[in-house]
Amino acid sequence: MIVIGGSSSRDLAKELAMIMDCKCILASSTRFPDGECYTRIEGDSLKDDVVIVQNTYPDTSIIEMILIQDAAKRMGAKSITLVIPYFGYARQDRIFKPGEPESAKVMARHLSLACDRVYTVDIHKEGVLKNFKCPAKDLKASGAIADYFKDKGIDLVLAPDAGAADRAKDVGTRMGVPYDYLEKVRLSGTEVKIAPAKMDCFGKNVLIVDDIIATGGTITAATVQLKEAGAQSVSVACTHGVFTGDAIQRLTGGNIDALLCCNTLENKLSNISVASTVAEELKKRMKRRRPRK
Ligand code: R5P
Repeated sequence: MIVIGGSSSRDLAKELAMIMDCKCILASSTRFPDGECYTRIEGDSLKDDVVIVQNTYPDTSIIEMILIQDAAKRMGAKSITLVIPYFGYARQDRIFKPGEPESAKVMARHLSLACDRVYTVDIHKEGVLKNFKCPAKDLKASGAIADYFKDKGIDLVLAPDAGAADRAKDVGTRMGVPYDYLEKVRLSGTEVKIAPAKMDCFGKNVLIVDDIIATGGTITAATVQLKEAGAQSVSVACTHGVFTGDAIQRLTGGNIDALLCCNTLENKLSNISVASTVAEELKKRMKRRRPRK
């Protein structure tokens, strides 16, 4: 197996290759003078099972992901597995207003034109997986998040909305602490309203888990609500730290006691690694493919 890291997922690719005990090639990526993407996989041939790690954010990564797949195929890759740690566009998984595209479907179709298998991590809507042109599976970051927080004195795990309730359940169950979710109403792209928690949060060390933090509006509203309810501390962990604009400064300078995300997107808060989660799945798959003696 050879792991190829695209420009948006280099650290994760390196860590994954280390765990898999295989070669890692970091695809070089530059821009032509007109801004078009130039990418190259160093070497003459691949002739092995290839795992490409690259996410879809920012948009330029999408072009690179498509081009790397073509290069790998031309270099003789026996199979191509695409690991997309952060699959963007999954929030536009249906038409909300006439005239809109079904972005998630378009992305899934085009990204899987030259690969044999796709793995995503905590994709916003699992239904999107059926649009890939090859078998696709979503891996969960709950195990990595629960492992990180298991010795940190957390009393309660909460999801900021009903959509993330299963995530809170999974993390809470793994940590052996109660879990629940808050009721959220989205007022605009940046503003949300969160109802008081049903569970008693007074004096509790609460961990909020979500899939994405973008503007930070959801997490800010949830934290304010929990602090008003007397929570002793509020820690926040998300899978994908998109952190638009100055979200990191705003969130770390506010009410939140600890803020972390997974390394599906690499930034200064991405200290929870999903490399073992991906490696475990790749190893399972390799075992299944091995011919019986
Ligand atoms: C929404 O359904 C998602 O799970 C996240 O809660 C949301 O995308 C976070 O966005 P923001 O940080 O902009 O509130």
